[in-house]
Amino acid sequence: MKNIEPTLAKAEVNGLSNCRTGLFYEDVICGLSSAPKFLSSMYFYDANGDKLFQELMNCEEYYPTNCELEIFSEKTAEICNAIIGAGDAFELIELGAGDATKSAYLLKYLLEQGADFSYLPIDISSNVISYLNITLPVTLPGLQMTGLNGEYFDMLTKAASISNKRKVVMFLGSNVGNMPVDVAEKFCQDVRNHLSPGDMLLIGVDLKKNPKTVLAAYNDKEGITKRFNLNLLERINRELNANFDINQFEHYPTYDPETGACKSYLVSLIDQDVRINGMETIHFEKDEYIFMEISQKFTVEQVNQMAVKASFKPVGHFFDSKHWFTDAIWVAE
Ligand code: AVI
Repeated sequence: MKNIEPTLAKAEVNGLSNCRTGLFYEDVICGLSSAPKFLSSMYFYDANGDKLFQELMNCEEYYPTNCELEIFSEKTAEICNAIIGAGDAFELIELGAGDATKSAYLLKYLLEQGADFSYLPIDISSNVISYLNITLPVTLPGLQMTGLNGEYFDMLTKAASISNKRKVVMFLGSNVGNMPVDVAEKFCQDVRNHLSPGDMLLIGVDLKKNPKTVLAAYNDKEGITKRFNLNLLERINRELNANFDINQFEHYPTYDPETGACKSYLVSLIDQDVRINGMETIHFEKDEYIFMEISQKFTVEQVNQMAVKASFKPVGHFFDSKHWFTDAIWVAE
């Protein structure tokens, strides 16, 4: 369970407004029956998808993880001081905690400073929460923590019912970029609605940069991103008894530097029919595409605007040395 990025909030972080039942079969059929066809990237993360994402994080071209790790390891004291504020007790809540590699830098420093806080990692995966419950008390003796297994907003409500201490929510890894901008704005508003004035959000966002750098990160030479996308077709084969021939689909990543939208598609190489569950037949024309994922890139101004739209005040940014990524601090108004 090493090196797992904060996992997407499976039900909330869904790419498109329809086909969002959260039920795999229903959403797949709905997306593939739409024009144009699409699948939700929230379904990338089965056991194989998790492994491929770990490989991606270690590949040369995929920069976001290393940038954010650099921020957390190099700017630990500054981030913690911003979080500690006047020194009143607080709860550090992480949405999609994964293996908490990045947050561990903060937790260690906060413990060393004697900060009055408890850590509430939230994750949809019960494996992740069990892992954190077992490992963190060993690696970080003295840490007060309560792992919360479930959907983000259900667990934020639960966290609020546990105590009325100040809340500092972390949403790292540029997971916010896997939502179209309007959905991302709504998501930030929903987070704000679960907080009180003075609470904070620490949000990791991938920034616009040289378009070649962005595109290369989603089109790595080893073809890991390609396998990551194709794995969703294989998952449909495995779990929904389908017969996708993954050799007949091509990975097509795009990046539009104007809008900052980095999008991935799978393009059908031939006219073909795919059977799903012995019941549905999905027809693909040659060159027809399936929209798979958006990884939105932002300017610093856009990050600040997103904060204001969601009734937060943007109060600070922490950047990596290349200014490719930011962890922004927003205070609930
Ligand atoms: C999890 N998320 C922030 C990744 C991203 O960069 O959008 C997922 C990913 N997709 C392809 N590569 C990585």
